[in-house]
Amino acid sequence: MVSTKPLIGEVYYPPETIVRQANLPDYDAEHQAMLADLAGEWGRIAREEFEWFAPWKKTLDDSNAPFYQWFVGGAVNIVHNALDRHLRTWRRNKVALLWEGENYDQRSFTYHQLAREVCRFASVLRAMGVNKGDRVTIYMGRIPEIVVAMLACAKIGAVHSVVYGGFSVEALHGRIEDSASKVAITSDGAWLRGNIVPLKEIMDEALQRSPTVQTVIVVKRTGQDVHMEPGRDLWYHDLMKLPIAETCIPTEEVDAEDPLFLLYTSGTTGRPKAILHTHGGYMVGVATTLKWVFDLKEDDTWWCAADPGWVTGHSYIVYGPLLLGATSVLYEGAPNHPFPDRWWDIVERHGVTVLYTAPTAIRGLMRFGDAWPNRHDLSSLRLLGSVGEPINPEAWKWYHRVIGKERCPIMDTWWQTETAHFMITPLPGTPLKPGSATLPLPGVQVDVLNEDGDPVGPNEEGYLVITAPWPGMLRTIYGDPDRYVQQYWSRFPGVYMTGDSAKRDEDGYIWVIGRVDDVIKVSGYRLGTAEVESALVSHPSVAEAAVIGMPDEVRGSVIQAYCILAQGVEPTQRLIEILRDHVAHEVGPIAKPATIEFVDKLPKTRSGKIMRRVLKARALGLDEGDLSTLEE
Ligand code: PRX
Repeated sequence: MVSTKPLIGEVYYPPETIVRQANLPDYDAEHQAMLADLAGEWGRIAREEFEWFAPWKKTLDDSNAPFYQWFVGGAVNIVHNALDRHLRTWRRNKVALLWEGENYDQRSFTYHQLAREVCRFASVLRAMGVNKGDRVTIYMGRIPEIVVAMLACAKIGAVHSVVYGGFSVEALHGRIEDSASKVAITSDGAWLRGNIVPLKEIMDEALQRSPTVQTVIVVKRTGQDVHMEPGRDLWYHDLMKLPIAETCIPTEEVDAEDPLFLLYTSGTTGRPKAILHTHGGYMVGVATTLKWVFDLKEDDTWWCAADPGWVTGHSYIVYGPLLLGATSVLYEGAPNHPFPDRWWDIVERHGVTVLYTAPTAIRGLMRFGDAWPNRHDLSSLRLLGSVGEPINPEAWKWYHRVIGKERCPIMDTWWQTETAHFMITPLPGTPLKPGSATLPLPGVQVDVLNEDGDPVGPNEEGYLVITAPWPGMLRTIYGDPDRYVQQYWSRFPGVYMTGDSAKRDEDGYIWVIGRVDDVIKVSGYRLGTAEVESALVSHPSVAEAAVIGMPDEVRGSVIQAYCILAQGVEPTQRLIEILRDHVAHEVGPIAKPATIEFVDKLPKTRSGKIMRRVLKARALGLDEGDLSTLEE
C-alpha cells in the first residue's frame, strides 16, 4: 500500500499534472477492492472493458491449483477486442500501427487497414491448412507483417510461437520441433545496422533438422536472392494477391482458456520451455495493466522499443496498445543507426508521448553523451518506462534528466514472460526511488521469503515470490505440466517462485536484485546457461563447458565461458574465435561468449552438477562460500 509517512531515501515526486490525469487515480481504493474480492474485481474489469461472445461461468477456478483458470467457460477472442470492436467506432480510421524501417521507409496502418490485412492473412493461413489449436512458428524482424502474422493466427484460434529474430539455427530448430509447428512464417532477411540478417537462410538450416514444417511463408523485406524450396516455400505477397486472401472473415470464437501463444524462455536447466498464455486472462491482464501504468489516452503515441519476439513486444507492442485502441510505434533497426540520435529523432518526428525501453538501451545511448538527445525536441514525452533488468540509479537519473527533462516519471516495471504483464511497478502518481520497481500493482500479491519460506525483514535479501493468482499468469509449460509445477510451485508449495531475489525497504518498496537461478540477462535478453553450454559442447573440440554471467557496464551481464577441450585439441586463440562464432551460429549473436577460457577441470558437486557459483565467485575474486558439496 502507498505509505502516507515521509518516504525514506532519495525520492522523486511526480508532477501534479501527471497525477491529476491518471487513469487509475486511487491506488489504495483499487488495492483494497482487489484484496477484498480478487476474482470479483477482475471480473468487473473484464466485463466493463472487453467484449465477450458469451459470459464466463466462473471468474477464477483454483480447484486444480497451480493450474489456475480464469473466466472459465467464457467465449472470446483477443483479436475481436484488439481490432474488430474498434471498427465500429471513430477509431476505425485512427492509426493503429506506425512503422519505421531502419532505412527510413514508413508504413502505417489504421485499425481498419490492419484488420483487413489480418483477415487476408488469416484466410491464407486457413487455406494452408492451419486450424484452431495448430502451432505456427513466426521468425521475422521488426516489420509490420510480424504483427499481422501474430494477429492472423489468433484470429483463427491458431497458436503462434514467435522466435526472436536474433536467435539462430539450433535455437530456432529446438523451438519449431518442440511446438510441432506445421507452418512457419519468416522473411528473406532483416535489416540491422545496414546489414542483412539472413533469416530465410537460418530458417532453411533449422528446417533441415525439423521435419514437421510443411509450409514456409516468406515475406520479402531485404530483397536479396533466397532459396525457395519447391512445394514448401511460398511468398507472402503472392499469397496475399490470391482470391483465398479474403478481406472480411469472422473472428473465431474461442474459449477464454484456449491457448493464444507459446513463447519460449530460458529456465534453470535443460531446453527452453514453452510458456503458454491464453486468450481471456492474458487479454484482461495486459490491457488493464497498460492502461493503469502508462496511462494511455486517445491522443497518445506509444512506443515500446522492444522486439515483438520477446514478451515485452507481444504484450506491449502488439496486444496491449491495440486492445486499448492506441497508436503503437514499431521501429525496425538499431538505436544508433545511422547515428546515436536515431531514437530521439523518432520521438521528435512521430511525437512519441510515452517511451518504454530497457536499461541496457538507456546505458548504451547514455554513452554517446547528452548532445545527441539535446539536438531534438523531446517535449512530446509525458511518461518513460524501463523493463528487463534492474536499472542502475545512474542510468535512471540520466533518463529522467536528459530524456524526460525532469518532467516525465519513470515507470520501472518488473514482470516476466511467465507473468505476461506488469506486476511490480509504479503508477504515474507513485513517488519514485531510482532503482526500485516500487510497489505491486493492485491485485498482485508478492512477498520476499528466506530459505525456510518465512518473510524476511526490511532490507533483507530473499526470494521474490507471488502469493495469489493473476489473470495473465502462465497456464503451464506446453507439453510438460510436471515441469511447470516443479519449476514454479514446488520450492514453497502454493507459492509462485519468480527466480529473482529482492529486498523490500521500510516503505514496502521492492528492489529487485537479479536472478537466483542459472538465467543470465545479456542486454536484458534472457538466456539459459544450459543453452549456451550445449552449443559449446556441440562443437567437436569441446568436451565440457560451463558459462557464467559477468557484470558489464552497458549490457548488464556478458557471458564468460570455461571449456574443457577434447583430447588432443590445441587451445589456441583461433579456436576461441571459432567457438564464439559457433555459439552465435547455433543460439544467436546475443549468446556469443565475451570470453572463453580453456581449463582442465570444472568445479562440480559430488553428483556431477557444475557449481557455477564457485566459478563466478572466483572470477569476481569473492569468497567461494560453502564448498562442502564440491567433489575433489
Ligand atoms: O530478473 C527479472 C528481470 O527479467 C526477468 C524476466 O525476464 P523475461 O521473462 O525475459 O521478461 C523480460 C521482460 C518482462 C525477471 O525475472 N526483470 C524484468 N523487469 C525487471 C527485471 N529486473 C529488475 N527490474 C525490472 N524492472
